[in-house]
Amino acid sequence: MAFTIAIDGPAAAGKGTVSKAVAAHFGFAHLDTGLLYRAVGAKMLAGVDPVAAAQGLMAEDLEGEGLRSPDVAQAASKVAAIGAVRAALVDFQRAFARRAGGAVLDGRDIGTVICPGAEAKLFVTASAEVRAERRYLELVNKGHETSREAVLADVKERDARDMERAEAPLKPAADAVVIDTSEMSIEEAVAEAIKAIDARLGE
Ligand code: DC
Repeated sequence: MAFTIAIDGPAAAGKGTVSKAVAAHFGFAHLDTGLLYRAVGAKMLAGVDPVAAAQGLMAEDLEGEGLRSPDVAQAASKVAAIGAVRAALVDFQRAFARRAGGAVLDGRDIGTVICPGAEAKLFVTASAEVRAERRYLELVNKGHETSREAVLADVKERDARDMERAEAPLKPAADAVVIDTSEMSIEEAVAEAIKAIDARLGE
């Protein structure tokens, strides 16, 4: 059985955590599509042309803690605005989405562009301040040196670029269930997500 769950939303809204928990709950495979753009962004920082990097992307390029750094996140958001980069990554994402046994994909344009026919769509969001605070704590815990102000500015800059780009801008699909996690614990956000997906599975 193929069953696709599309989970979109801005940076640090809890998408990744919710997606992993949802995939584990339903026994589905999970693809963090942000990693594809991060891997291309990292290659661009290393001097590779981003379109060539996207076209030649390999599984091993998606590994490594370096992909989680703020510099790579900004580079990812920049290469993600290039139409030819996005086009090069479409087939891989769609094939993953339709694999047997079900799939969860999280990103920015999964419900709108990559899998408009997904059986369940969620848009996980939170205020910029809450997202920045979460990202700040995560970075500090990992030993990165930064400030709350710098992280908030970074989140806002990335939001603006992701929402205002011409190619597949970040926005909820018309039929997505919106979950605002600003006032929710991780457990509450995951429970909301599972409830929304159960409703679609039961149809
Ligand atoms: O989810 P993330 O923070 O790992 O994503 C990094 C960047 O990649 C993000 O700023 C925008 C881009 N991205 C995208 O354009 N489309 C996706 N499906 C996933 C990520």
